[in-house]
Amino acid sequence: MKLEIYIFSDRQQLADTLSRDFHRSLETQANAGGSVFVALSGGNTPRIFFERLAVPPYREEIPWKNIHFFWGDERCVPPDDTESNFKMANDAFLSHVAIPDNNIHRVMGENPPQSEVHRYEKEIKTHLPLAENELPQFDRVFLGMGNDGHTASLFPGAPTLLEKEAACVIAEHPTSGLKRISLTLPVINNAKRISFLVTGEEKATIVREILKKSPSSLNYPAAKVKPFNGVLEWYLDKTAAKGL
Ligand code: 6PG
Repeated sequence: MKLEIYIFSDRQQLADTLSRDFHRSLETQANAGGSVFVALSGGNTPRIFFERLAVPPYREEIPWKNIHFFWGDERCVPPDDTESNFKMANDAFLSHVAIPDNNIHRVMGENPPQSEVHRYEKEIKTHLPLAENELPQFDRVFLGMGNDGHTASLFPGAPTLLEKEAACVIAEHPTSGLKRISLTLPVINNAKRISFLVTGEEKATIVREILKKSPSSLNYPAAKVKPFNGVLEWYLDKTAAKGL
């Protein structure tokens, strides 16, 4: 596993650099032909990056027809709900760029979770290439991290962390009880490139514990993200990195 840590003076500089890097990596892959499979993170942190993709030059220059967007996790709410990760990404950039509808593979949060978890698993396995380990392989997975060290919708101490076979699971938010659909650790760790986007002082202690590999970090789901063969990146603003 290759680990890269990038620290930026603020969220805007992080979003600017990440957009440029995302554009470049997509162009390289698109020119090599074929499709690029990306899983987006939810929550608030990625919004500034997404909004950057919806304006020039990226709006025009990114090869949108080569990219297939999935989600690392979704709340079990309708797509027009303010809690919807799809809604956030759609408002921020997807509805402003020339991406074919068939390239947007959202979790149908309006469906009963028991049926949706299987439908989304099938959607992932229908489109994504399988790696040698027979697991679907994303080209890039974007992740956030909660103040409790959760990532995607994999929460501390949850049985979903032990899933070995399935590509996605039903999860439950520990305080709200809201149901969610989340990619599992094996599929996340099977990605070629995993990029954590983490900003804000309230996350600095956990970032430090995880990147310093302190024993206290072992129970954080975000600490269990270790790509089998890929690259692991942390995009941090200086407040989230203050303990490093
Ligand atoms: C979600 C996310 C979750 C998120 C973290 C950080 O659906 O909530 O995917 O894992 O990335 O909770 O959220 P913020 O970016 O809002 O701090």
